[in-house]
Amino acid sequence: MMEACEHMSFEGDAPAAAEEAVIKDRRELALVAVERTRMPMVVSDPTQPDNPIVLANQAFFDLTGYTADEVLGRNCRFLQGPDTAPSAIEAIRRGLATGQHFVEVELLNYRKDGSSFWNQLVISPVHDEDGSTIYYFASQKDSSSIRLARELATTEKTLLKEVDHRSMNALALVESILKLTKADRVEDFSTAVQGRVAAIASAHRLLSEGNWAGAELRDLAQRELGSLDIEFSGPETRLPPHVVQPLALILHELRTNAQVHGALSEPDGHVSLHWRADDLFLWLSWEEASEGNTKPVLRPGLGLRIVKNVVQAQLAGELNLAPREIGLKAEFKIPLDRRLAT
Ligand SMILES: Cc1cc2nc3c(=O)[nH]c(=O)nc-3n(C[C@H](O)[C@H](O)[C@H](O)COP(=O)(O)O)c2cc1C
Repeated sequence: MMEACEHMSFEGDAPAAAEEAVIKDRRELALVAVERTRMPMVVSDPTQPDNPIVLANQAFFDLTGYTADEVLGRNCRFLQGPDTAPSAIEAIRRGLATGQHFVEVELLNYRKDGSSFWNQLVISPVHDEDGSTIYYFASQKDSSSIRLARELATTEKTLLKEVDHRSMNALALVESILKLTKADRVEDFSTAVQGRVAAIASAHRLLSEGNWAGAELRDLAQRELGSLDIEFSGPETRLPPHVVQPLALILHELRTNAQVHGALSEPDGHVSLHWRADDLFLWLSWEEASEGNTKPVLRPGLGLRIVKNVVQAQLAGELNLAPREIGLKAEFKIPLDRRLAT
């Protein structure tokens, strides 16, 4: 048996390297281990100008796509590129300058073919008897897939939280509808509730199609009002998720009211919906017009109670219902910042 193995105990099969007569001592065995491990590794020499790489293993070449000739003699910073965080590079610089026992940093690096990977880099100094740093030893682990999994887990968590929040919100809406709906006959109760719950369900589908990241106001209006003679105008407005279902219910109530009591119950009646928004608020204006007889405004019945309840209690918004001779004009100011809503 070779010298090196006499004072080493291996578990399981002896490493292939141990069978080769060329291995003279521990140092050589360590070199073979470095060469054969799947962990990319390099050694640099800080006693030479710009701390060049003096040793790199096959796993490093496999990871980066460079050959030994292209790597040896160069400082490792050649792996950095446009999206490498300057703060990560600074952390390495500081760690090396202050003689940290380990410098551990995760940073974006680039292969020879230009593709990027996340490098979980660990660098440690090797000292001589006097305590001077004679080498740096580093391992580079491709952490791209771990990072992706971490990011996916975070996204999934956020998404689940959002869905949970929205479901609670939808249930609160349904609860308020049930509480406010009064009907003597079961059939009337059921009809009154069904259309409203369907509006909430349709907005739910819209949210789910957009991965719960909100919805375009135009898409929501199209779903709720698209089949009618209603003119929309307003800029592209992304509604945050918490506004989508309550607003669907408001549009549903306005539409039903217009169909039963307002402009849309007249052959020549029509409605326009206009909106504008900034980062904080959405201003929505609903205007009915008809050449026919004077129409009542939004009847002070269930529809109005629901609209008021949703705007004020759920969205922390304001509404202004102006009675007009020929139809309803309703104006809404709705906060878009979730912290202002329930
Ligand atoms: C042994 C060793 C290995 C290194 N490996 C990498 C690496 O894989 N990727 C990287 O971006 N930087 C690596 N670095 C860091 C750079 O070589 C350099 O120290 C860093 O960019 C900060 O110095 P600078 O400001 O002179 O560029 C390594 C440094 C040492 C000493």
